Parts: sequence; C-alpha cells; structure tokens
Amino acid sequence: MKLLKVYSRASAPTKIILFGEHFVVYGKPAILAAIEKRIYSSINIRNDNSINLNINNIHEEIDIDNILLLKDKGFTNLAHPLFIVIYDTLMRFNARFGLNVKIDSDVPFGSGLGTSSAASASLITTIFNLFGMFDKEEIFSLTLNAEKLIHNNPSGADPAISISGGLIIFRKYDDNKMIIPLEYDKELEFMIVYSGEERITGKMVDNVRSIKDKNPQLFEIFANKSEEITQDAIQALKNKDYALVGKLMTKNHELLNRLGVSSQTLNRLVEHALNNGALGAKLTGAGGGGSIIVLFNADNRNRLLEAFKGNKIFVTKISNNGIKIE
Ligand code: MEV
Repeated sequence: MKLLKVYSRASAPTKIILFGEHFVVYGKPAILAAIEKRIYSSINIRNDNSINLNINNIHEEIDIDNILLLKDKGFTNLAHPLFIVIYDTLMRFNARFGLNVKIDSDVPFGSGLGTSSAASASLITTIFNLFGMFDKEEIFSLTLNAEKLIHNNPSGADPAISISGGLIIFRKYDDNKMIIPLEYDKELEFMIVYSGEERITGKMVDNVRSIKDKNPQLFEIFANKSEEITQDAIQALKNKDYALVGKLMTKNHELLNRLGVSSQTLNRLVEHALNNGALGAKLTGAGGGGSIIVLFNADNRNRLLEAFKGNKIFVTKISNNGIKIE
C-alpha cells in the first residue's frame, strides 16, 4: 500500500456505559454513549526504525524489531500495549518505518471512560490515514485485538462505541456483534463524577468470571435482570421518559453492586447524587473505581453541580463523532 502522508492526526471519543456492563461480555445487551471528551493521536514518520511514544507523562522509544519482546516481558505501563498496536497496524500495511507518536487525552486514563479503547482506535485510525485508508470494520477489529492485549476477554462494546460515536445498543454473539444506533435527544446531559480510584478493567472482568464460575445459577439470574433493565431502558429512551431512564440506571447500579463490582466510594457518590435530586446514577464501565454517571433534569443541574463541587466532575452531552481525522 502506498504511503500518502508523513504526518497524521486522528481522534476517538471516550464513552459511558448507560446499561449492561459486564453482562455484555456474556452476550447480554448494553447501551453505550460516546461523550464529548476525546483522545487525540498525532504521528509523524521518522527516517529510522524507532517508535517514540509519548503518552500521559510516559516517554519511551523502542526499535521496531524489539517491540514484540514486550509481549514476553509483560506490560508494565500503559504505553506498552500501544507499541504492539502500532506494530500490528504497520504490519497490516507491510510497512516498516519509525514514528514519533503523541497521544493526548481530555480525561484521565483509568477513569472508567473507555480511554484504552479510544487511545487504540485513534492511534490505528491515524496510521490508516497515512495510507489514505479509513475502513471502520478493520479499525474495529484491530482495536478489539488491542483490547484483548490489555484485558483478555473484552466484549467489543468499547471499540464499537469508540468507532461509531452516538448512542448504541451493543450485543455480542460468539465471534459476531450487533450494533444498533439509537436516536437520542441532542440536549440530553450527563454529569460524570470521578471517584479518584483507579482500577484495572481486566481484573474486574476476571473477578466477574470467577463469580460466574462459582455460582452459575445466581449469575444467570443477575444477567437476565441486566437484560430486562436494558430492554426497559431502550423503550424509556425512545419515549424520552428520563425519570424512568434514571430509575433504571439506579437499579442497574444496585445490580452491579450486588455482583461485587462497585466500591464504597462509588456507592457513596451514587447516594449523594440521588440525595441531591438526580433522576438516577450508577457506576459506569468495569467498576471497582473509575467514575459514576448521573442523569438529572434541568431544574436540578445547579443543585447537583453545587453538591459535587468538591469532586472532579464534568457535564457532557452525547457526541455523534466516532473516530475522526483531525
Ligand atoms: C468495560 O468498559 C466494560 C465491560 O463490560 C467489559 C467489556 O465489555 O469488555 C466491563
């Protein structure tokens, strides 16, 4: 494939999971939204074989021929799997040249907002763009491979929303996936509250797997409950019945708490949101830390902003933009 550019920049959105996290790994539906906070990747070609990666105060340089050794050594920081992503994407084009890579994020890494998937998706898109390519299905499958490096059993929901943007229902069927875009209210806002607790998605997904292995019947009951909540939520979103959407979010949080993926901090934040007029609140993503999402109506916006003024928060609408060349 012919190299068309020497410099490229692309971005991908971070995301919130409104309903169905964890159970989506086992074939149940989930609802995800892309948000207005993005991750940006910039690359330029070097005239040697070194990959120089700059992300989140980590600055490392590795010769392209040594990248695969990282897999044997084990990843010790968030840059390491991204070196493999760069290598695999270059190999897709049979390309072998050095790159300077810079990745910037609007939100902290590890905040439960799909930063790993957005970082990979933006990086892969940037490299594709060097060759004048923008194939969403291929970018999805490379992003999914990247997620498998980071946590070994991803559902594919995070790569799907990073690439599509908007609001989607995601469902995994064995090696296949179903993505249904949902219409949404352009004015709809969510408040995101960071817990300040970092967590590792892969660990949380592994914990849930061992709960499932120990008590498959109970897990089945929980998974069916998650599906029921998600189906009700799809209807409520279509009807713009946000009071019901909020109630269902809180119900989903309670279910995730019973599953064991919440934390004291997350529960406290959810309760604080509800005590201050939120329509609903829940943890989002893998749990164990990360962030909560809060749904509210316009009348309670200021009260909630005031209630969380001691926390790191932001308010966001749903973003229609998936991966994008900048
Ligand atoms: C993580 O953002 C969402 C999980 O459901 C894992 C996955 O779907 O791969 C916890």
